Amino acid sequence: MRPIVIYGEDILHRVAHAVTSFDSSLIDLVNDMFETMDAAPGVGLAAPQIGVPLRVFVYDYPTDDGTPRRGVAINPQLFVSPTEVRDPDAADEEGCLSFPGERYPLIRAESGILRALNIDGTPFEMECDGWFARIMQHEFDHLNGIIYVDRLASPFDRAAAKVMKRQGWGIPGASWMPGVDNLDA
Ligand code: NI
Repeated sequence: MRPIVIYGEDILHRVAHAVTSFDSSLIDLVNDMFETMDAAPGVGLAAPQIGVPLRVFVYDYPTDDGTPRRGVAINPQLFVSPTEVRDPDAADEEGCLSFPGERYPLIRAESGILRALNIDGTPFEMECDGWFARIMQHEFDHLNGIIYVDRLASPFDRAAAKVMKRQGWGIPGASWMPGVDNLDA
């Protein structure tokens, strides 16, 4: 398990690098990411969130019929449907392990197609919609240095800025350890 860095840590706000070697260190990284995501617990985790600047994310979110949908996406591309224009107040709320304890409404595309490589470098393609599409957009953003709170509409952007100020986030140095630190503390 690895500590999860919090908003303000440089690595979260930079574009991550493509994976070029599919070796045992990549397998170790992905195993650590699954373990950390499960302990958090979370439905997705991107490598920059544990301080690794690579284009890798893991996810674990059941399908509508309850079947587990768990996997890793390496060097992903994401193609999404246009975002509907609607009231941000009516959007579903999103959260992030790197902005722990808070959730804000955010409009996302309803569906998309993910193209990525799996752990041994084999390409795969996956259609996603609803909450699963939201998770894919959220994790993909992480690989481009974007945290969902950067996308918030007013007044939620101001609410997030207040939390950041109160918690002392927005500058490097903050992190938390799943299973050790209490998120609500
Ligand atoms: Ni996140």
